[in-house]
Amino acid sequence: MCSKKPAPFIYVFLIMTIIKFSSAVTCPPDFGDRCICGKANYNGKPRFLVNCTNTQFNDAAMLEKLPIQTEVVIFTGNNITSMPWNVFGKMNDYPDLEVIDMTNNNIKEIKGKTYHHVRNVKTLILNHNQLNITGDKTHPRIFSNFVNLESLHLTNAFSESVDSKEYLVALEQIFVGSNLTKLSKVHLEQNEIWSIKNPNIFCSLPSLMDIQLGDNNISEMNFNVGCIQNLRFIDLRNNKIHNLSNNTLSKFEELPEQGLGVKLDLMGNPFICDCQIADLLNWLRTTKVDVLEKESYSCYDGFPVSNINQQLYNVHQIQCAYAPKQEYQGTTVLLGILLFLMTSLILIIGYMNFTNVRARTVALWEKVFHRGQYTHILSKPEEQEVHV
Ligand SMILES: *[C@@H]1O[C@H](CO)[C@@H](O)[C@H](O)[C@H]1NC(C)=O
Ligand SMILES: *[C@@H]1O[C@H](CO)[C@@H](O)[C@H](O)[C@H]1NC(C)=O
Ligand SMILES: *[C@@H]1O[C@H](CO)[C@@H](O)[C@H](O)[C@H]1NC(C)=O
Ligand SMILES: *[C@@H]1O[C@H](CO)[C@@H](O)[C@H](O)[C@H]1NC(C)=O
Ligand SMILES: *[C@@H]1O[C@H](CO)[C@@H](O)[C@H](O)[C@H]1NC(C)=O
Ligand SMILES: *[C@@H]1O[C@H](CO)[C@@H](O)[C@H](O)[C@H]1NC(C)=O
Ligand SMILES: *[C@@H]1O[C@H](CO)[C@@H](O)[C@H](O)[C@H]1NC(C)=O
Repeated sequence: MCSKKPAPFIYVFLIMTIIKFSSAVTCPPDFGDRCICGKANYNGKPRFLVNCTNTQFNDAAMLEKLPIQTEVVIFTGNNITSMPWNVFGKMNDYPDLEVIDMTNNNIKEIKGKTYHHVRNVKTLILNHNQLNITGDKTHPRIFSNFVNLESLHLTNAFSESVDSKEYLVALEQIFVGSNLTKLSKVHLEQNEIWSIKNPNIFCSLPSLMDIQLGDNNISEMNFNVGCIQNLRFIDLRNNKIHNLSNNTLSKFEELPEQGLGVKLDLMGNPFICDCQIADLLNWLRTTKVDVLEKESYSCYDGFPVSNINQQLYNVHQIQCAYAPKQEYQGTTVLLGILLFLMTSLILIIGYMNFTNVRARTVALWEKVFHRGQYTHILSKPEEQEVHV
């Protein structure tokens, strides 16, 4: 009796280990042996990973059969121009799914109904795609099922043929429409952003802490930060900032404790150390904002030219490189007078010649339409002149 009883438990245990083990090495058949499924290290933690890297799939249908226990999906290096509805299927919930990495899939369009069953996802990575979210491709609720999303990666995510000003407006609509109450990090590096025309783009993200805008072509920080109560870090590395105006800098004063503890990274910007940089210099020396490595910023250009390549923080002599305003106004007035005189002259000459010109026009008219019948008296001398 005693020797019989434990046997079933051993079998159950064995079968369970076999199931566990087998599910740890093979993916469901739809994945066509191209992916790796099972426990692996991800960001220093053992997670249940589905890893389809450089798998060159042309559709995402297999993702409907994602193992229920999946914690991290890596789906990169495929060619999925249009993401289907319900990419993770209609039926299953994925209670443990925390990371979706869809880097480099040539994705152009994400449908409003693409992402369902993503309630516990904290990180969504869509780097290096060709997204077009403008026009009829704007789906404001595109990320609305990511109710726990904390980190959104959109590095080099947008198609270069869509103007960044346009897709940033669409992105704001998505932020508003998707109710991303927990989102704390937004990555928008390498997106050919020149300027932002919707200053409240980040204002509908109540938990936002980090804004990553490095490696763009931004010349003015024209978005509001006063509305971002939990702001921690703004990355504007390697942009095209020459100076910042009081108007911009005063936005930091609207933050709790005038931005104390907020970090700002302006490394690698081409500062122009002429009189226009005075506001920024004053601000750098007095602000509570932690401007990272500010002592190592340097002047790309400047006036006097001896400022070039100097450390921005140590520049004390700055002058205006361009002619003062009054002189400029003087030349404008002079130019205006000249233009007026010239126009008058042309009008006078035109008037004096008017009768003459009219006569000649009439003559030409007659010549063209009455050719072969008889020539007008006025045109006769001319004809003779030509033939002589
Ligand atoms: C995913 O698989 C690729 C190769 O297929 C490998 O290089 C990469 O390290 C894997 N990623 C993780 C997080 O295990
Ligand atoms: C990617 O897929 C699209 C159609 O979905 C096709 O036109 C294109 O040639 C594919 N690109 C590559 C590199 O396979
Ligand atoms: C982006 O989508 C809009 C709306 O469908 C379309 O008008 C525009 O041509 C698209 N742009 C690109 C580059 O595909
Ligand atoms: C947004 O999400 C919060 C919590 O996640 C919820 O309380 C609120 O009702 C949602 N708002 C809308 C408009 O869906
Ligand atoms: C920034 O502009 C320059 C041209 O002035 C261009 O060559 C470069 O690719 C642009 N960089 C980005 C990230 O758009
Ligand atoms: C900053 O510099 C640019 C030229 O590089 C100039 O057009 C602009 O007016 C300057 N802004 C301020 C506030 O000094
Ligand atoms: C910018 O602000 C500083 C300090 O508040 C002030 O001294 C300076 O005149 C302002 N600059 C401009 C151009 O208004």
